[in-house]
Amino acid sequence: MSSPEKRITLAWTGASGAPYGLRLLECLLAADYHVYLLISSAARVVLATEHGLKLPSGPDAAKAALVMQLGCSPDRLEVCGKEDWFSPVASGSAAPKQMVICPCSAGTLASVAHGLSDNLLERAADVVLKERGQLLMVVRETPFSTLHLENMLKLSQMGATIMPAAPGFYHQPESIEDLVDFMVARILDHLGVEQGLVPRWGYDQRK
Ligand SMILES: Cc1cc2nc3c(=O)[nH]c(=O)nc-3n(C[C@H](O)[C@H](O)[C@H](O)COP(=O)(O)O)c2cc1C
Repeated sequence: MSSPEKRITLAWTGASGAPYGLRLLECLLAADYHVYLLISSAARVVLATEHGLKLPSGPDAAKAALVMQLGCSPDRLEVCGKEDWFSPVASGSAAPKQMVICPCSAGTLASVAHGLSDNLLERAADVVLKERGQLLMVVRETPFSTLHLENMLKLSQMGATIMPAAPGFYHQPESIEDLVDFMVARILDHLGVEQGLVPRWGYDQRK
């Protein structure tokens, strides 16, 4: 297994923004992270709608499809089932200290804010919060209701980082990939993962 500091939990939920999740996975694997990947049922629907990628529901088959799609090594990718309670991410004694939910739906936001832990994805987030680890939530909805805003405030006060899926335009994007990379670069920065996806403000001027 990779060293503890090179392990991370990544969750995809059913908010729009599947390309963010895919690109983030690609970058984490390229940075030699061991990734525990949790995929909600709605996330699979969004992935098929936005990216044309139909992931099977079984964890092993989903992993095989992702390895084929990304052309990555299978060694450091672990896809976990939603009731795989014996996964390391389910316990504070073994879970990685960092978790990203990207994209994060309003539904998962609410479940995590209220500690439901009704499936492995919600349980993994609850574990990171109780262990005082780093939880990044890339929430996507518009507009936000008062309930969404209250849930985000509650989680922020508990130590989670709320990063709305809201790419900037000051890096002069020329493609959708540039916009995706903007968000992924900010997430990687917060995780402390070295990245060169987007020029840094005040340093490299592209034009
Ligand atoms: C194509 C598509 C796009 C969606 N986009 C969003 C979204 O941007 N934000 C959101 O909160 N829910 C969105 N939804 C609805 C969620 O998928 C739905 O509430 C689901 O129950 C969330 O479940 P999950 O949090 O377990 O993934 C979308 C659904 C589909 C099919």
